[in-house]
Amino acid sequence: MAHLIGGLATSHIPAIGGAIHKGKQQDPYWKPFFDGFPPISHWLAQVKPDTVVVFYNDHGLNFFLDKMPTFAVGAAPEYRNADEGWGIPTTAPLPGNLDLSWHLINHLIEREFDIVTCQEMLIDHACTLPFKLFWPGHEVAPVKIVPININTVQFPLPTARRVYKLGQAVGEAIRAWDSSERVVVLGTGGLSHQLEGERAGFINKRFDLQFLDSMESNPEWATQFSDLELVEKAGTQGVELLNWLAMRGAVSAGGASVKKVHGNYHIPISNTATGLLALEVA
Ligand code: DHB
Ligand code: FE
Repeated sequence: MAHLIGGLATSHIPAIGGAIHKGKQQDPYWKPFFDGFPPISHWLAQVKPDTVVVFYNDHGLNFFLDKMPTFAVGAAPEYRNADEGWGIPTTAPLPGNLDLSWHLINHLIEREFDIVTCQEMLIDHACTLPFKLFWPGHEVAPVKIVPININTVQFPLPTARRVYKLGQAVGEAIRAWDSSERVVVLGTGGLSHQLEGERAGFINKRFDLQFLDSMESNPEWATQFSDLELVEKAGTQGVELLNWLAMRGAVSAGGASVKKVHGNYHIPISNTATGLLALEVA
């Protein structure tokens, strides 16, 4: 059976793509953010995952507001990146893991998650940048991917509880996959940020730190909140933390316990309070 090694989570912010392109990792503005990654890259080089299942939210590149699936799973041999409007350099396509895609799709449908299946899927900064951060220096990270898109963009959003359960179902499916591959799950987005409206620039450090703490010790903590409460606490885009919750559901599927590899929290990068976490399944 496949081996679920652990979970990763990081903020995704288009400006990170520009900073990597210009080699600004040591600039005083960027250093506290980029300095969080080497211990995790080191760990990944040791545990050598074959495939990464990515929970993320599309930002109008593959799905626009006229067609917004709640959950969409990629089943493509490769995933091309394109610029959804930020002007950051486009990255090379990421190879897909078709076998795992179809295994997850079958398992999720069986478990009554009525997902959209995408045999073609463009990926935006939310899916591409984490690979540049966790595998720096690689033109293409040495892994295959299965992208799982969660609607954190246009209401109605799936509830935090539902997203956690989706993650658990994905984790169960990975563990039941007849393969010798080593798999990591990744959630991208957050932490608190709001890009528009009266509260543009809103950041809530107290909530973020509680959320980060819950990711280690009390993973279902955030499922007590409605999506509107999460928007109130974390901002209209901070609700991207739903992707972290899916990752956390996946690693704790079947009652597995986790230990923290490394984490970081830094305010701000662009408009966002950035969070970073790696958990290893014990
Ligand atoms: C920013 C953050 C995001 O999550 C995003 O998708 C786009 C921009 C920002 O802080 O600039
Ligand atoms: Fe985002």
